[in-house]
Amino acid sequence: AVERTLSIVKPDATRRNLTGKINARFEEAGLRIVAQKRIRLTREQAEQFYIVHAERPFYGELVSFMISGPVVVQVLEGENAVARNREIMGATNPANAAPGTIRKDFAESIEANSVHGSDSLENAATEIAYFFSGTEIVG
Ligand code: CMP
Repeated sequence: AVERTLSIVKPDATRRNLTGKINARFEEAGLRIVAQKRIRLTREQAEQFYIVHAERPFYGELVSFMISGPVVVQVLEGENAVARNREIMGATNPANAAPGTIRKDFAESIEANSVHGSDSLENAATEIAYFFSGTEIVG
């Protein structure tokens, strides 16, 4: 089925001017960028976005990292977009990511791993609504 998923180009990637190269990976794989904006997350936005990780030891550092520079939040649309995007990104830890994936090729560390992607269709809907109104998404 055609799905939508939330993607974030993280501060380590925007800092190294990799937004275009990352977007090319999505487009070449058949995903369409149907919404996109470059923003600076507030601490409160980053804390809320990653609230499911609040008890994890890396939560504080993750929030600090996500507000350390601009991010590009985007909605990707396509057949099986949630799973497809996770394939394109590769494993969370770049050390475990498959060749040819974004994280293998661009990520700096398990934290500065260049991209975020929704992990389920249900979370995708929540995460998309967190950043975009309906009229900002143009399919
Ligand atoms: P993301 O897919 O955005 O989801 C949670 C983020 O926490 C993850 O990518 C990493 O940027 C970050 N993170 C830092 N340390 C860890 C860790 N040990 N395990 C999982 N995620 C981590």
